[in-house]
Amino acid sequence: MLAIVGGSGLTQLASLDVTRREVVRTPYGEPSGALTFGRICEQDVVFMARHGYGHTIPPHLVNYRANMWALKHVGAEGVISVASVGGIRPDFGPGTLLVPDQILDYTWGRESTYFDGGDRPVRHVDFTHPYDEKLRKRLLAAGKAVGEALFDGGTYATTQGPRLETAAEIDRFERDGADVVGMTGMPEASLARELDLPYAAINVVANFGAGRASSEHGISFDSIELVLQESMTRVRVLLNGLCGRK
Ligand code: HPA
Repeated sequence: MLAIVGGSGLTQLASLDVTRREVVRTPYGEPSGALTFGRICEQDVVFMARHGYGHTIPPHLVNYRANMWALKHVGAEGVISVASVGGIRPDFGPGTLLVPDQILDYTWGRESTYFDGGDRPVRHVDFTHPYDEKLRKRLLAAGKAVGEALFDGGTYATTQGPRLETAAEIDRFERDGADVVGMTGMPEASLARELDLPYAAINVVANFGAGRASSEHGISFDSIELVLQESMTRVRVLLNGLCGRK
């Protein structure tokens, strides 16, 4: 069974043939919401809305530990994260879809490990390649199958939020090697790794990063909403492209 974690603009999956919903309790507190189980043509899927179904949970308050634990607990064998981002690379304009392959982490104060002094011996998980390559390839193949252009690779900078960045911060992220910036990539990805859950992401560029191109004088929320509406329709089609492939 595949898990899909939907971010801003993707709080439900119309193509999901829903069979049941389940509220999962975890040793780490409440997940973002009930899990929705169903099928996307033959493929068992469990869906979770990262920010809650009413989009009320900001990125720094998402209970990433509970979310990943709950998905593992119900038998997910892989997690696909859908997350909106700001584009830093000049060719990553609004509407670009990419499957990133690296991460930078600028977040702070988030519960970011399951090894926090409890009764489990500490494991320093390898995180050289933060995304699961097989799952990445599967997403790229799904893109090909439905004729959706997906950029292969990119470095995702995770910022604390919920505010957007300053122009100087975007410049700094670029100097560090970032191609896109978002608020939820970490610690979600490393927690999945701690649970041995293969994890990959589809990033949806909602806007240029602060100070860049159309965001030179500021970022308009109305235009983000429009881009996300249109792009998430494409993401839904793309997820249908996962059909029939294990
Ligand atoms: N910055 C951080 N996160 C984002 C952005 C951004 O510009 N756009 C969408 N998510």
